Amino acid sequence: MKGLVFTEFLDFVEGRFGVDSVDRIIQDSELASGGSYTAVGTYDHREMVELLGNLGRQSGIPVSELLEAFGRHLFSQLASAYRRLFENISSAFDFLEHLEGYIHVEVRKLYPEAELPRFECQNSGPDRLVLVYQSGRGLADLAHGMILGCADHFGDPLEIEREDLSAGVGTHVRFTLTRQRSHP
Ligand code: HEM
Repeated sequence: MKGLVFTEFLDFVEGRFGVDSVDRIIQDSELASGGSYTAVGTYDHREMVELLGNLGRQSGIPVSELLEAFGRHLFSQLASAYRRLFENISSAFDFLEHLEGYIHVEVRKLYPEAELPRFECQNSGPDRLVLVYQSGRGLADLAHGMILGCADHFGDPLEIEREDLSAGVGTHVRFTLTRQRSHP
């Protein structure tokens, strides 16, 4: 997993829970990196699982909720760091339709060793989009949060229905998104 995900995660923890919490989760985790990450480095994604588990224990908040909240935060950080990728994209649906074939393709050019999920996208009508997530890392909660962050970013409220096709392990998940039209 790219270091930038770790550095953003530790910033998120500091902002939400304070700097002492960052120190505590690092101390309580067994990390080959020792808890020091650079944005361009690459680390074992199990370090993220370990850090999240400890944050969950310390805060009493379920890990799925923490991962989702982090995903939402991460999207807004990525949106300001990679403005170029957002040029000519005008809505959440437009963005999500370009995620697999453009956004993550560009990410792969920047970070050839990135471990990316696979997204299959089916458009089913102007207000419905089906996005199927697949990844051995099982980070569907992170994907859920990023979809919410994407909706926030474009000011396009979405209702998200989620179906786990991997018996609850989050490696294969279908998200059915419905655009909420505002009624004047
Ligand atoms: C709603 C939009 C997005 C979703 C749902 C999404 C989803 C994900 C998920 C779930 C992962 C974790 C890896 C896995 O599950 O196997 C991931 C990794 C990643 N994504 Fe995206 N992503 C989105 C947008 C973006 C954007 C805008 C960028 C940057 C411009 C980006 C860059 C990355 C990077 C750098 C990684 C880390 C790869 C690694 O750790 O090796 N993503 N994405």
